Amino acid sequence: VKIKILLLGFGNVGRGFCELLSEKRELLMQRHGIHTSIIGISTRKRGSIYVPHGIDMETFLSRTTEDPLLDFKQIFPEMTVKGKDLSVEDLVSLADYDVLAECTVTSMDGGQPACGWIRNALERGKHVITTNKGPIAFHYPYLHELELKYGGRLLFEGTVMSGTPVFSTLSRGLPGSRIDSFEGVLNGTCNYILELMQQGIDYEKALQKAKECGYAEADPSMDVEGYDTALKALILSQVLNEVSLSMEKIELEGIKGINERFFKEACMGKGKIRLVARGILGHNSTDISVKPEVLQKDHPLYNLPGPMNGILFHSDTIGQVYISGRGAGSRETGFALLRDLISLFPGEGQKFKPINIRESEKLFRSDHRC
Ligand SMILES: NC(=O)c1ccc[n+]([C@@H]2O[C@H](COP(=O)([O-])OP(=O)(O)OC[C@H]3O[C@@H](n4cnc5c(N)ncnc54)[C@H](OP(=O)(O)O)[C@@H]3O)[C@@H](O)[C@H]2O)c1
Repeated sequence: VKIKILLLGFGNVGRGFCELLSEKRELLMQRHGIHTSIIGISTRKRGSIYVPHGIDMETFLSRTTEDPLLDFKQIFPEMTVKGKDLSVEDLVSLADYDVLAECTVTSMDGGQPACGWIRNALERGKHVITTNKGPIAFHYPYLHELELKYGGRLLFEGTVMSGTPVFSTLSRGLPGSRIDSFEGVLNGTCNYILELMQQGIDYEKALQKAKECGYAEADPSMDVEGYDTALKALILSQVLNEVSLSMEKIELEGIKGINERFFKEACMGKGKIRLVARGILGHNSTDISVKPEVLQKDHPLYNLPGPMNGILFHSDTIGQVYISGRGAGSRETGFALLRDLISLFPGEGQKFKPINIRESEKLFRSDHRC
């Protein structure tokens, strides 16, 4: 099968995805019968390129590595549409593609503008794969309605724990199960900072070290104020409990104001402090919290090292299931897109239903239209 991909965003994740597609070209053909071509790439500052028969990836990757900041128009005059700047909206609504791969920045502003692009693609019956937490956290129920209505699938493995398989483990490994609750450490930056603080380093120095190691952004507020973890908790809760929820529903406290007394108390009790996302997924209620908690030695999340992520699910069939792995990275998150892509076109005899772990494709209503 030939698959045309439109890629939105060419930062860490977009590049990781393109590199993997190039590297795995043969394997994708042999194992899954998939032949991929990227027909368009759009960014905010570097512009867009559109090549209906497919971009030569080797050339594209090497030339963008040589000139990492230059506008695409300057590097690839032959691949841009002359006399006209193609907007992201034009590409999403007019270009000929099968899959929209969306990896632009996560925005707390209702997941926009990415949510609008995803909506547009789904309304055209296209499949969408994304690593962007905003659209899924703020509008999953609505976007899921569009999936059911127009037939394209929406997959978002990379939104929680990057390439570490969470949704695919649940959908393939626990079909027919009910997930009653989860507890997770879902932000590597916070985990790393808390580890250093536990060793006696103060918050500002620990944050500085996290920046130097590339774990924290120049503006770390999304991480340390707990919003990044809250978005992930919102995604998990809505998808697993088939409900429509908003950020206000979350009891949220980041690690920014955490004080030394907390650490002393934790150490005295031989515990460790983690920023824990907790979801209690009841029949008629969903309770979510994101806050620093003291975990004891026998807890699976206690030993999670540095920037790693982990999540513990409580199921009604096999009890506890623990998943742990890297929660960020260009190649890791690019891999999440690759896996979603393969899930859409797994090849004959390997088909499975990618996300919903419940038996029904229940339509759950949302007021949060985007
Ligand atoms: N990095 C990770 O480890 C990781 C892990 C899990 C999930 N994610 C999520 O994956 C997404 C991408 O992450 P990243 O690390 O690749 O981010 P990034 O390096 O900042 O790249 C973001 C890309 O999106 C483009 N973009 C931003 N706004 C746009 C707009 N309005 N129109 C068109 N393009 C736009 C940027 O264009 P310019 O190049 O012109 O700025 C850039 O190419 C984010 O939503 C992030 O939360 C990332």
